[in-house]
Amino acid sequence: MKPQFLQGGFNRFWSIAGAVSVRTKILGIVLGLVALMGLGVTLQVRATLSRTMDAQLEEQGVSATRDLAARAADLILVNDLYALHQLLAETQATNANVRYAFIVDPQGRILAHTFGAGFPAGLLEANTTPPDEHHRTVVLTTDEGLVWDTAVPIFGGRVGTARVGLSETGVRQVVDTVTGQLLLTTVFVSIIGITAAAFLTWILTRPILDLAKAAQTVGRGDFAPRVPRWADDEIGDLSDSFNAMTRALAKAAEERAEREQLRARYVSGVIAAQEEERKRIARELHDSASQSVTSLMVGMKALSDACDSPELRQRADELRGVAAHTLDEIHNLALQLRPSVLDDLGLPAALERYVADCRGRFHLRIDLAIRGLGETRLPPELETALYRIVQESLTNVARHAQAATASVLIERRDGAVRAIVEDDGRGFDPGTAGTAEQRLGLYGIRERAELLGGKLTIESEPGRGASLFVEIPLPVNSPQ
Ligand SMILES: Nc1ncnc2c1ncn2[C@@H]1O[C@H](COP(=O)(O)OP(=O)(O)OP(=O)(O)O)[C@@H](O)[C@H]1O
Ligand SMILES: [Mg+2]
Repeated sequence: MKPQFLQGGFNRFWSIAGAVSVRTKILGIVLGLVALMGLGVTLQVRATLSRTMDAQLEEQGVSATRDLAARAADLILVNDLYALHQLLAETQATNANVRYAFIVDPQGRILAHTFGAGFPAGLLEANTTPPDEHHRTVVLTTDEGLVWDTAVPIFGGRVGTARVGLSETGVRQVVDTVTGQLLLTTVFVSIIGITAAAFLTWILTRPILDLAKAAQTVGRGDFAPRVPRWADDEIGDLSDSFNAMTRALAKAAEERAEREQLRARYVSGVIAAQEEERKRIARELHDSASQSVTSLMVGMKALSDACDSPELRQRADELRGVAAHTLDEIHNLALQLRPSVLDDLGLPAALERYVADCRGRFHLRIDLAIRGLGETRLPPELETALYRIVQESLTNVARHAQAATASVLIERRDGAVRAIVEDDGRGFDPGTAGTAEQRLGLYGIRERAELLGGKLTIESEPGRGASLFVEIPLPVNSPQ
């Protein structure tokens, strides 16, 4: 029970103390300690001083009363009341603490006193001396404060009793003055302590604040800031370590940027070489294979014309039909290998032509939307990559999805180009697809996207269609 209560108290304290700055914490500690010490010392000094001075007051009272008793004895015996009054006045004049003095005869009658306006009632009975005591002091509470009243019997009380009252007002004044001075000293020391602590915390926190500011800048990805080494202490070591870290980070960022640049150069080289090769094969197909097949067709025609037998002529015509079909396929293949429209008219026109071709070939409803491209052309390797990605995605839809509709969206926004190809077909499990060695389609899409710094995301479940998201950032210096 108790530890939990303590824990709760500590948590509450820390939620307040922990939330303030280091400067406030140190200033608070210094102020708290100085004030605590100042007040402690003041209270202790005040108590000791009061005790000592009270004891002194009592001693003073006894000696003053004894002196009075000794000097008053003769005067009482000769009944010289005037001289007695003089003696009392002198006693009061020589000691500033004496509030009153009076002489009582053995019958309890007051022979002389120092009260100008009548003797106070009850004072006489307030202190009496038993015959066996030399003196007796009692502390009386009056409306003027405490009074140390001392009674000393004269000749064992047979001649009378001398009484002197010493007021504590003087003592209180001294104690209050000393207390005030001590408090003033505490305030003065507090001010000096706070000034020193403020200076110290300024020296301590200045490098820490510098470090915090520099760390924020580094957090934002700027590795340029360096912090000065203010002193040869632990914080100085920390500053050095911080500077070493930012230098290492800056170097790493530079190397990363260089690697990125190299990779980008390599990627565009690979893609350009690949496209170049495809172009060459397409040209080859057009220039040699289709020329040969065309010559074959012309030869077949001549053969058929020269044939007398209708059977042979029909056979030759059929073969010519096969050759014509092959020519068409070669033409299609060449077109797919490298559509010249991509180079000449750009990505939107090439995609429109390709999608229109797919609609016819695959008997599929395909929606195509292109947004944000406008008149500006994308970098050639990006155009080629997007074209190939759409090409492979739609081929997959046609081959695997058994879908009725598909949609293609190309969108340029926020410094990136997104390609989204969706279908309503039978779907698949993206976790297992595209891993087998002979399946290169999805792998190729991912590679193309990643080589250009982008990424591929596939969302699909068996029976619920498939969506392919490709996002590729635009190069920084490309027109927006
Ligand atoms: N749109 C789709 N709908 C349903 N299944 C798909 C779709 N796209 C891909 N798949 C599945 O993912 C597998 C991997 O596709 P991927 O394109 O990588 O290889 P592939 O088409 O089989 O062969 P290729 O290397 O010729 O492209 C496919 O075999 C198919 O099962
Ligand atoms: Mg495929």
